[in-house]
Amino acid sequence: MSDSINTVILAAGKGTRLGINTPKPLCIALGRTLVDYVISGISDFSSKCGKKVSYNLVVGHEKETVEAHIKSKFSHLDPSFATQEQQLGTGHAVKVFFEAYPKSWKSAYTLVVCADTPLITEDIYSQLLSEIEDSGVDAVCASFFTQNPTGYGRIEQKNSGFNIIEEKDANESQKAIKEVNSGLYLFKTEHIKTFINKIDDNNKSGEFYLTDLFKEGFNVKTLQFCDEKSFLGVNNLIQLEESETILLRRKLETLMLKGVRMNRADSIYIETNVEITAGTLIEPNVSIRGNTKIGANSVIETGVVIKDSTIGDNTTIKAYSYLEGAIIKNHCAVGPMARLREGTEISDNCKIGNFVETKKSLLHPGAKVSHLSYVGDAEIGENTNIGCGFITCNYDGAEKHKTTIGKNTFIGSDCQMIAPITVGDEAFVGSGSTITKDVPSKAFAIARQRQVTKEDMAARFIKKK
Ligand code: UD1
Ligand code: MG
Repeated sequence: MSDSINTVILAAGKGTRLGINTPKPLCIALGRTLVDYVISGISDFSSKCGKKVSYNLVVGHEKETVEAHIKSKFSHLDPSFATQEQQLGTGHAVKVFFEAYPKSWKSAYTLVVCADTPLITEDIYSQLLSEIEDSGVDAVCASFFTQNPTGYGRIEQKNSGFNIIEEKDANESQKAIKEVNSGLYLFKTEHIKTFINKIDDNNKSGEFYLTDLFKEGFNVKTLQFCDEKSFLGVNNLIQLEESETILLRRKLETLMLKGVRMNRADSIYIETNVEITAGTLIEPNVSIRGNTKIGANSVIETGVVIKDSTIGDNTTIKAYSYLEGAIIKNHCAVGPMARLREGTEISDNCKIGNFVETKKSLLHPGAKVSHLSYVGDAEIGENTNIGCGFITCNYDGAEKHKTTIGKNTFIGSDCQMIAPITVGDEAFVGSGSTITKDVPSKAFAIARQRQVTKEDMAARFIKKK
């Protein structure tokens, strides 16, 4: 018998108790799906345990969506899928897996984990493996004690072995049992082979329970864990929120231990995939989402929201700015209250001031857009200064057009660029200009009416109340 481990991830259920349309394995907690956490945990375990681990998922409800997601993210792990057409219970799900992949009977061990327990970490899988190897039992069930056992299968310990009684099937005294089944088990594969066909659906749910592989008289044991948090199962949106809170605290602590400073960490939201380098400070009420990366010694001030963006070193994002799909390099200052949209690229030493919106635009090093401006579909050259109230008129109602401004150019306040338009290097555009024609390098352009001043005429226009 090969010394390898089948992992069987049960992901076929509908998740009816969630009350939403998303299939349960694909529910998002802290920016990642529940099943992603399970697969990542097993993958961490796999790299430590020194055994060959296979990744197998039992899918059913919305299986195309679930499979497509897993194939797109974990193709390197070569996952297999078995379809459980009808969700007849967790025992049935495991049976379906072995029917689809009979070669898997050859693996020494089978680890069964539910797709709705995202908090289980690699060390827990490792402890189960040590337990089964050291104790010589046929199966180990990870259990824990909880003050609120509602919803979990209760562990009824017997002189030899134990029974797992599902909530629906439990009598009052069984319901009071505080030791519960986490839904995580490590079996000798032989044990499953011997007993899987003996499981029946003779219970209140009419389901084939995997938990029937643990019975009084069997050579099985529970491995009792103190940390009940790690086993939280997500069956409803309250438990989804609870698991997200635990994942968040773990994420913040990991970052802080790496040298990322946080003020009032309890008000900060940082998703699992976010990377931040030591020396950076995160102020209160900040939300950092998606695949965001932040370099060293940067400051993210209060109330900032960042999604799928990359920020370099020594950059400050000032209070209440909103960044989405933007790249900001080193030694920049952005905001307060700036909005950087998809496709914005800000090079080193740039400044984006308050009430500035940018989209699909490249600012070369040292460019400054300091106040109240819209920069869309534009390229702004090195060390060019854009005055207050600047607008790229990039949209003609049907198409978007580009504005290109060269380096060391000065654009006065309150200018509009009617794109497509090009302003060269070292040019100067006077304040209040609506630029409709290209401006060559070194040229001065001004496009506004000459001022008319009439002495003593104001009284004609001032209305009396
Ligand atoms: C299960 C356990 C319970 C344990 C709890 C821990 C059983 C009978 N009960 O209950 O003892 O305390 O987990 O969280 O196992 N699934 C399938 N096919 C099916 C049925 C379920 O793939 O036919 C999948 C679900 O998608 C889910 C997992 O198995 O990921 C567990 O199912 P769920 O309905 O959540 O079981 P619980 O009621 O939580
Ligand atoms: Mg569950």
